[in-house]
Amino acid sequence: MNIFEIAEQGAKMLPEKYKTMPAEELEERVRAVKSRLGKKLFIPGHHYQKDEVIQFADATGDSLKLAQLSAENKDAEHIVFCGVHFMAETADILTTESQKVYLPDMRAGCSMADMADIRQTEKAWSRLSAMFGDTMLPLTYVNSTAAIKAFVGAHGGATVTSSNAEEMVEWAFTQKERLLFLPDQHLGRNTAFNLAIPLDRMAVWNPISEILEYEGNLEEVKVILWKGHCSVHENFTVANIEQVRADYPGMKIIVHPECRREVVERSDLAGSTNFIIQAIEKSAPGTHWAIGTEMNLVNRIIQSHPDKKIISLNPNMCPCLTMNRIDLPHLAWSLEMAAEGNAVNRITVSEPDASNARLALERMLARS
Ligand code: 13P
Ligand code: SF4
Repeated sequence: MNIFEIAEQGAKMLPEKYKTMPAEELEERVRAVKSRLGKKLFIPGHHYQKDEVIQFADATGDSLKLAQLSAENKDAEHIVFCGVHFMAETADILTTESQKVYLPDMRAGCSMADMADIRQTEKAWSRLSAMFGDTMLPLTYVNSTAAIKAFVGAHGGATVTSSNAEEMVEWAFTQKERLLFLPDQHLGRNTAFNLAIPLDRMAVWNPISEILEYEGNLEEVKVILWKGHCSVHENFTVANIEQVRADYPGMKIIVHPECRREVVERSDLAGSTNFIIQAIEKSAPGTHWAIGTEMNLVNRIIQSHPDKKIISLNPNMCPCLTMNRIDLPHLAWSLEMAAEGNAVNRITVSEPDASNARLALERMLARS
């Protein structure tokens, strides 16, 4: 979310006293609210969250698991989401009206989700419909705003996550002959390629120039990829892979499918955050791994597997800066405000977007 949208939503900023509070006191305060609210409180934490936050999560997971848990949870009155804005929106869409979802810091957006706004999407759809007629189904990565999910739901499409993208793309082709895949070109390209769709049958929609980047015959296009990307995963390069192959012969390289095609192609394995965690957990002691995903998660995996040699694929990698906005002071503040009935930074998706976005999410959850 950009700074103007934050201001528009009346986002509250962290009070000064929490900024200077010692970590032990903050932790004590979090524990106190958790024990006071019990089952009335649910704290989901995405794998990319900092350790200081994840230690208090009631459940950790990838985007799919956190969406499933939000849909299943009927007990919690307060859901304090430790993740980014689109995840909290998804939780609000999938929970009941009486359940309240909060994001401890409203600046925890996602640069990829910001790469497709609803006006651009409506414009693109009308331009592409003029080229392709009624042959397209829209699919959106969950890393998108509620308005985009609503657009997709209203047009018969669905959301996808990095764990179920292949199943969802296969399903989409049972509905229509072409796909518009928003907003991550890399996940879209990697997924379609795994399903044997040749690269030369994928076009790219550039939402800035409003041009379809494609050199062949339009009739041949199967997938239209929105020109968006993750600014974290784009930092893994072919040069990083070559370096690891040269420095550590035999080391396995595993990456997230938000990485570029050429990186995924040269890696040994690619999959969601959950897939990466499982693959390393199942591997034999003494195995060697280079991981291409966000740094908080890579560091946590390194710490939990002292019996394996694990490094980041890019030695200069940083954490996802927006995920990192959720820290211990924001968590303590958010929980205390919720417990006092004075909640801050509530995430609400209004109608008709909520209902249409729910359609897109439910089509995915039914197939996951
Ligand atoms: P997953 O948790 O679905 O692997 O997604 C990674 C991500 O970038 C979330 O923002
Ligand atoms: Fe968005 Fe990338 Fe951060 Fe995930 S890692 S929240 S896709 S910017």
